[in-house]
Amino acid sequence: MVDMRIVVAITGASGAKYAQRFIHECVKAKVQVHLVVSPLGRRLLNDELGLESIDLARLGGAGAHEITLYNYNDVGAQIASGSFLHDGMVVVPCSSNTLAEVAHGLGGNLIARAAAVTLKERRRLVLCHREMPLSPMDVNNYKILTDAGAIVAPANPGLYLNPTSVEEMVDFVAGKLLDLMQIQHNLNTRWQG
Ligand SMILES: Cc1cc2nc3c(=O)[nH]c(=O)nc-3n(C[C@H](O)[C@H](O)[C@H](O)COP(=O)(O)O)c2cc1C
Repeated sequence: MVDMRIVVAITGASGAKYAQRFIHECVKAKVQVHLVVSPLGRRLLNDELGLESIDLARLGGAGAHEITLYNYNDVGAQIASGSFLHDGMVVVPCSSNTLAEVAHGLGGNLIARAAAVTLKERRRLVLCHREMPLSPMDVNNYKILTDAGAIVAPANPGLYLNPTSVEEMVDFVAGKLLDLMQIQHNLNTRWQG
């Protein structure tokens, strides 16, 4: 494989800005992005970013034409197969619904199926879950997913860098996700001691 390529899923949890910043940085780093958005993910893109449709230029900035967009219902798309080689999958933001679907190995939509395949192929799967407080089912699903090799990385920005804007808090979460995928970035996320 020459270029790094990752699968990115956006689901119906609050935090569309995290997805936007993460995808933008992937595109900047010349990582191929294979994107799928759930119906509620689309709604949150509209509610939180004002996107009336999936606007790749707004999500990825310059170079966004390199993003491949998939239909959520197409469980026959290439990212649903283990033969499609990739460097991992990130679900950002990840709803409790998708968290449960992935924890229980369901495959009725392309996000759950691509995540199941990522686990089956022993590739990196990062779930940026957002909910507060956690339900007992969320906590059980964290355990199931962690035992299965996934990384649960809740949308939980640290305040130790003294952020003064929402953007800086978004950078913190996006930067952590980029670090987990070993994608280079210059976002301000590091504690200098
Ligand atoms: C405005 C809005 C905000 C929501 N925020 C969250 C959230 O932060 N976390 C969550 O788990 N679900 C949230 N939900 C509920 C999910 O969207 C819902 O459970 C949906 O079935 C998730 O589907 P999906 O996993 O296919 O995207 C929200 C729904 C709406 C309409």
